[in-house]
Amino acid sequence: MSTQSRRIWLVTGGCGFIGSMFVRMVMAERPDVRIVNLDALTYAGNRANLASIDSDERCRFVHGSICDAAAVDDAIGTGVDAIVNFAAESHVDRSILAPEEFLRTDILGTHVLLEAVRMHRIERYLQVSTDEVYGHVAEGASVEGDAIAPRSPYAASKAGGDLQVLAYRTTYETPVLITRGSNTYGPYQFPEKLIPLFVTNLLDDETVPVYGDGLQIRDWLHVEDHARGILHVLEHGLVGNVYNIGGGNARTNLEITQRLLDLCGREFDSHVRHVLDRPGHDRRYALDAGKAKALGWQPRREFNAGLAQTVAWYREHEAWWRPIKNGSFADYYKLQYAQRGAR
Ligand code: DAU
Repeated sequence: MSTQSRRIWLVTGGCGFIGSMFVRMVMAERPDVRIVNLDALTYAGNRANLASIDSDERCRFVHGSICDAAAVDDAIGTGVDAIVNFAAESHVDRSILAPEEFLRTDILGTHVLLEAVRMHRIERYLQVSTDEVYGHVAEGASVEGDAIAPRSPYAASKAGGDLQVLAYRTTYETPVLITRGSNTYGPYQFPEKLIPLFVTNLLDDETVPVYGDGLQIRDWLHVEDHARGILHVLEHGLVGNVYNIGGGNARTNLEITQRLLDLCGREFDSHVRHVLDRPGHDRRYALDAGKAKALGWQPRREFNAGLAQTVAWYREHEAWWRPIKNGSFADYYKLQYAQRGAR
């Protein structure tokens, strides 16, 4: 399919963290593309994430869930050239508290979209997935052909979505692609995740809750590099393939914590609390992104600079995160962290 023919893309979850980065990037860099953004505006979806392109008529917002076939049909309207599915329940800790919504959105929602691709004969479907489907990786790095071994309700739901996507390829020859990204950071990330939670707590002079010994390892990827990887796979990926999108920045949680303390001018002893570990906590993720690199994608953001810019963004955008932290998130925080013994 030529770039020229991909004129209308249905993006789901375009008001979320990675989805909104993708929408802003496409609007800035692909003048020939129009986007229909279908978003359910759950707690993590925020129209403010797209405020900078509000006046761009090439992007149309539709309020609705990917689990609702009528809403998906409505968003597709007279037709789209591609679907990129960012819509997901994505927070591991929430999946441990209440898994059902994860199964609904990440498996059933994916199924609804795949049916739409089949019925409307849409030319390309890209499923945004995660390195968590590979499970804990004791050594080496996951390649796309590795067996999947999810270990949390969230990871299992995403794996269920991936399996549906691959089964549609086998059974119906649906033109699918999957990207599996590593831990993503950057502006507009909902402050339930490690980096934005810790940054906003530290800016507020509060403590940060490190799970267990803090020696778990994650591979960090800037949101701009992640969105660019997805765009690259959408435009150049070989149908039926999975592509790992990894940042190549493996760090322990304690290393991340120390860097954030330094960037926020806080001390370890007064601001870090080791709390009860996450049940079934995956110790290490590691992605081999060689296949995406061979396709021509490269992460561009240097990690230390990216992290410093992210902290600066949160410092300068209190108006974005303060209402979130004061809203229903405050109840979630109490529920999640009281049981861990954190203040
Ligand atoms: O690896 C990709 C995945 O990264 C994405 O698929 C998920 O949607 C995303 O949530 C993220 O999953 P993690 O569980 O790795 O991210 P999170 O930010 O929740 O946690 C990162 C690490 O920090 C993990 O080892 C748990 C730890 N942590 C997290 C929180 C929120 C803490 O020690 N304290 C905390 O309060």
